[in-house]
This record gives sequence, structure tokens and C-alpha cells, in this order.
Amino acid sequence: MAQNQVLRMRRDLSGMTEAPRWPDGVVPATLGPRPDKQLAQAAHGVLEAGFWEGGGGAPIFRQWWKTLRRDEEFDPALVFVAMEGADVIGMAQCWTSAFVKDLAVHPRARRRGVGRALMLAAFNAFAARGARHVDLRVREENTAAIALYHSLRMQTVSRERG
Ligand SMILES: CC(C)(COP(=O)(O)OP(=O)(O)OC[C@H]1O[C@@H](n2cnc3c(N)ncnc32)[C@H](O)[C@@H]1OP(=O)(O)O)[C@@H](O)C(=O)NCCC(=O)NCCS
Repeated sequence: MAQNQVLRMRRDLSGMTEAPRWPDGVVPATLGPRPDKQLAQAAHGVLEAGFWEGGGGAPIFRQWWKTLRRDEEFDPALVFVAMEGADVIGMAQCWTSAFVKDLAVHPRARRRGVGRALMLAAFNAFAARGARHVDLRVREENTAAIALYHSLRMQTVSRERG
């Protein structure tokens, strides 16, 4: 049986100038500095809704939140959310090591530029922190995400076992 392969992709942040452009009616936020549990729960809901398409499975909220907050690379200011009214429609959770751990946009909010804006918000935050590049891992069959990452000038640096 074929092994799941994962691409490690990287965006060089030198000369990072592109600001996120949020679609009309969409407002950015983060979980920082003091995470609001309800907002975290809504962000997790988007992760759950999108995760199977990314080839993974999301742990239940309680487990996810507990593990996340205990991680030494966790920073609530690096959990980016896109709000439409009271709803979270997209989220990107990053580690302090300049790594995008999870990205998901609710299925009904796709192809409006939310994923791109979330990624650019993360890139700008890491550039402001002095990071040279941002990395992530993506399953190589996840063509939608890879198309997004290529459009953001991310390049594959290695191919690893999933
Ligand atoms: C990948 C994902 C985050 C993209 O979010 P999105 O908000 O729909 O993406 P955007 O609207 O910002 O797309 C920006 C560009 O990325 C590319 N893109 C995004 N989705 C695509 C798709 N399904 N097919 C082809 N290209 C796509 C396009 O170039 C697009 O620009 P365009 O709409 O002008 O053609 C979303 O599909 C998702 O949540 N997928 C499930 C979870 C997942 O796979 N996460 C990534 C794990 S590594």
C-alpha cells in the first residue's frame, strides 16, 4: 500500500510586505492575550468541519484545548481567527517556532480569500517577531491547500512520511 506522503513547505519572509486583505464583512481576531474559551471552541468547530478534507482527524475540543495550552510552543496571539458576525469562519493555529500547525476555513466560506488572509496574517506576525521563514506540513494529495500555498509563494523543502 502506498505510504502517505507529506510535503514540508516554506515561505521565506525576507521582504514580507503583503498585508492580508479580508473579504467584506470578515473581521480578523486572535485568541491572545487571554484566550476566551468560547472563541477557542468556535475555532475548534471550524477545524473539525474542515479537518477530514485535510486528511486528518481533530480531537474533541476538551482534549485539543488542554493539549494546546500545555504546549511550550503555544501562544494564543498566534491563533488567528476570521469572524463573520458572531461566527468563526476560519482559523490558523501556529506554533512559536514559526510553524503553521492547522489551517481550516468553514466549507461554506471557501474561495473568498479567507485562507489566504489568515496565512498572510500569520506571515506578518512571524516577520514582526523576526522569523526568517514560516513552515508547515501538508499531505501531498491535498491539492486545494497546496494550490493556496503555492499562490503564497511557499516552496516544498522536503517530502516526508506522513
Ligand atoms: C485549504 C483551505 C484552507 C483554503 O481556504 P479558502 O479560504 O477556500 O482559500 P482562499 O479562498 O483564500 O484561496 C486562495 C487561493 O488558493 C487556491 N485555492 C484554494 N482552494 C482551492 C481549491 N479547492 N482548488 C484549487 N485552488 C484552490 C486558489 O489559488 C485560490 O485563489 P482563487 O480563489 O482566486 O483561485 C480550505 O480549502 C480548507 O479549509 N480545507 C480543509 C482543511 C485543510 O485542508 N487545511 C490545510 C491543511 S495543511
